[in-house]
Amino acid sequence: MTASKLKFPERLFITGTDTGIGKTLVSAMLLSGLNARYWKPVQSGLADITDTEWVKTHTGLDASRFFPEGYRLKEPLSPHESAALENVHIDLDMFIIPQVPPAETLLIEGAGGIMVPLNEKEFMIDLMKRCNAPVLLVARSGLGTINHTLLSINQLRQEHIDIFGVIMNGPLNKSNRDAIEHFGGVKVIAEIEPMEQITPKTLRQSFSKYFGKSI
Ligand SMILES: Nc1ncnc2c1ncn2[C@@H]1O[C@H](COP(=O)(O)OP(=O)(O)O)[C@@H](O)[C@H]1O
Ligand SMILES: [Mg+2]
Repeated sequence: MTASKLKFPERLFITGTDTGIGKTLVSAMLLSGLNARYWKPVQSGLADITDTEWVKTHTGLDASRFFPEGYRLKEPLSPHESAALENVHIDLDMFIIPQVPPAETLLIEGAGGIMVPLNEKEFMIDLMKRCNAPVLLVARSGLGTINHTLLSINQLRQEHIDIFGVIMNGPLNKSNRDAIEHFGGVKVIAEIEPMEQITPKTLRQSFSKYFGKSI
């Protein structure tokens, strides 16, 4: 059991305001401290280390904590484009959402942000709905974040998706945090500062620092 000060849901969809914003890092940190498993439904880009491999390597956790990706697409492009290049059609009905044992959390990492197309008519936000999971929105802490974060929040609300919270990633920026909470009507659940080293130990320590005592 986790002693985290937050009650994490059975499923949590980790999205972001952009690509390269820290979704995989946040996933690794949460996986290090929670009784949780990780699933990346759409992996775009296979040449470099995949997100699943990155989380596995940096957390040092065993293979049982990871589910196979739903779609593995070669080119590091938007999923709709990467899939089209391989003559693959991403079909929302093809996703089988992994089941986790009771009292565990399934951490689902999206690709890019919420309006990333999956095919000619559906977006990552449609997959979020299908997963029936509240969303954790990872945002940068610095300039530009208020606009990106509020736009993402508005879109999630319009589609009636629960927002579990926002995580700000980068050097502390209190005024941006305050603006996001005030204008967005959301809770910033953590402000993650740049980490010098990312290892199983520093991830566990960071989990404790930001979310409470780990398991
Ligand atoms: N707080 C942080 N401290 C150190 N490195 C970070 C931090 N957040 C993200 N990074 C690094 O920045 C890069 C992009 O982050 P990543 O989690 O892969 O983003 P995303 O999954 O949203 O594409 C990665 O190399 C990651 O390790
Ligand atoms: Mg990622």
